[in-house]
Amino acid sequence: MFNLILFGPPGSGKGTQSEKLIQKYGLKHLSTGDLLRSEITKQTALGMEAKKVMDRGELVPDEVVIDMISSAIDQNHDVKGFLFDGFPRTAAQAEALDKLLLLKNSPIAIMLALEVSEEELVKRLMKRGETSGRSDDTNESIIRARINEYHKKTTAVADYYRLFDKVTLIKGEGSVDEIFNTLCEAIDAKM
Ligand code: AP5
Repeated sequence: MFNLILFGPPGSGKGTQSEKLIQKYGLKHLSTGDLLRSEITKQTALGMEAKKVMDRGELVPDEVVIDMISSAIDQNHDVKGFLFDGFPRTAAQAEALDKLLLLKNSPIAIMLALEVSEEELVKRLMKRGETSGRSDDTNESIIRARINEYHKKTTAVADYYRLFDKVTLIKGEGSVDEIFNTLCEAIDAKM
């Protein structure tokens, strides 16, 4: 198995690039944001609780997302590997993921960290908010709260994987295809 984490702040292009990477490498895409939005659409109790937190631009509790990822991993046997998008987002999530993957004897091979300036992130998300229907894209203060949450809690995840020499920084500005090619070069060098 080849497991990778696509990392970066809100709006850095994780979802956009994930779609292209899973096509090329045949990996299973696991996005905690998508899993949570699917719970919201189904109006489950978990989804309704998560929505309140997401609408404030804050992170959903660790145990909720770790449980979701754990069952998604269990439900996907015989995959070539996983592409984790938006997870892990805290040091506790990173440690839990390592434990889950240890059971499969298949650690994280690489973390690709997209780097995008804050002004560009806000610009992209405000623009998407015009049409996406995502309630956390509707105003600048929620978008900035999401970015603050990233700096407060999520950058520590890159520090964690840096200890194991697994982090590759990727310039996340430029055309989608240019960024995709840089991501592929980094993956090919590790495969
Ligand atoms: P999540 O769904 O993970 O959202 P996010 O991290 O805020 O990221 P986005 O989906 O907004 O951005 P992205 O980096 O995927 O960029 P995208 O490709 O979409 O999380 C949402 C919420 O769920 C969190 O705030 C939290 O509450 C909760 N949550 C999720 N996971 C959690 C976890 N593990 N723990 C706790 N809580 C969790 O692109 C953005 C826009 O930019 C698009 O319009 C795109 O078209 C455009 N774009 C992409 N690339 C380019 C480019 N190169 N040039 C110009 N525009 C571009």
